[in-house]
Order: sequence, then structure tokens, then C-alpha cells
Amino acid sequence: MKFLVINGVNLNLTGKREKSVYGTATLDEINAKIAKFCQENGDEAEFYQSNIEGELVNKLHEAYLNKSCDGILLNAGAFTHYSYALRDAIAAIDIPVVEVHMSNVHARETFRHTSVLSEVCKAVVCGFGAGSYLAAIVGLKG
Ligand code: DQA
Repeated sequence: MKFLVINGVNLNLTGKREKSVYGTATLDEINAKIAKFCQENGDEAEFYQSNIEGELVNKLHEAYLNKSCDGILLNAGAFTHYSYALRDAIAAIDIPVVEVHMSNVHARETFRHTSVLSEVCKAVVCGFGAGSYLAAIVGLKG
């Protein structure tokens, strides 16, 4: 299978920001781990990160219009909690999207307990650190 791994706002600082919450591995290191996991299982992964909401929407459209992958892992960062634009983009495409979070958002501040994306996602994985991405891949493979 081909997976598209999309990381949103502030995720480029993973490994540098709030280390007690998100750990010390950088996004490049996490992506390398995902790539290795995919390779070992005969799968492929493409990686994309942007801090800009519209660019994340464009990437979802592009994957859909070009039929470029079989499943999408989306860690939208804080956009998760309020972006109706991302929600509509997920609803518009016929590729399964898994909402991913490294931290357990339900054990954190109240505003993180709400996701406007979950309803239109195939599944939600949170709380396993970088392992959340790997669990999402396992789930999408079925
Ligand atoms: C996050 C959780 C979000 O609430 C937060 O805004 C992030 C990262 C996570 O991976 O745990 O930026 O999506």
C-alpha cells in the first residue's frame, strides 16, 4: 500500500518543542522510522508537512485527484480542534484518512478533547508517540 503522511502546524518543531509531551525525536527521525516500517512490510510512504492550513487542504485534494495513495495519516496539530476547512477536505475525498496524534489529547487541556476532524476520519489514534503513526498504518492495512 502507499501511504501519505501529512503533518500540520508546528509539527516541524517535533523533537525541539515541548519535549516532555512530544519526545525528543525530530520529525525527520519519526518519518525515517515510518519509512523503515513501511519498507519492511512491502509498503511505501510519502511525507508532507506544512504550517499553512490551505496547503494541507491542497495536499489532500492533490492525493485525491491524482489517486496518489491508498491511505492518509493526518496529524493536523492544533488545526484538528477547529479547522472546518480540513474537515470538509477530508469529507470530499474518497481516500481513508486516519487522524493521528502523538500525545493523548484526551488527557490534556479541554480544548484538545474536541476534534472537528474525527467524524469524517476512518479512525483516530493518539497517545503512542511516534507509535501512533505506525498503529494507524497497521489499522489501514487491515
Ligand atoms: C498533536 C496534539 C494537538 O493538540 C497539538 O496541537 C499538536 C500535536 C499531537 O500530535 O499530539 O500540535 O496533534
